[in-house]
Amino acid sequence: MNELVKKAIEARQKSYSPYSKFAVGAALEAEDGTVFTGCNVENASYGLTVCAERIALMKAVSEGAIKFRRIAIVADHPQPTPCGACRQVLYEFAPELEIILANTKGETETVKLSNLLPKAFRF
Ligand code: THU
Repeated sequence: MNELVKKAIEARQKSYSPYSKFAVGAALEAEDGTVFTGCNVENASYGLTVCAERIALMKAVSEGAIKFRRIAIVADHPQPTPCGACRQVLYEFAPELEIILANTKGETETVKLSNLLPKAFRF
């Protein structure tokens, strides 16, 4: 199995998702090969929940990484895909990001962020 997907699976195990019970893991690979992981972190005030992808991205940027090659996202879903908010936040740093969508059965599909978010907003 792809190493980045393995790291996303590991990160998913840390998911704090007592409300939705939908665990998500992400592994974001920076240009220099460093991998930043994330899981979704929910809150009793539901709207404060943060997705796995944005946790990984915020960790990376706060550690000084701003250029990215790939992200792997894992969820127990037939066709996992990042939400609109995460697409926009990832687009800020990596419009051509390669996104590996994986489910817990080990099925994967690779897409480009620019295809998931056409005509994205940018300054
Ligand atoms: N979630 C993610 O972490 N990433 C996605 O790509 C989709 C949704 C989380 C948010 C919430 O904790 C749970 O999945 C259900 O929406």
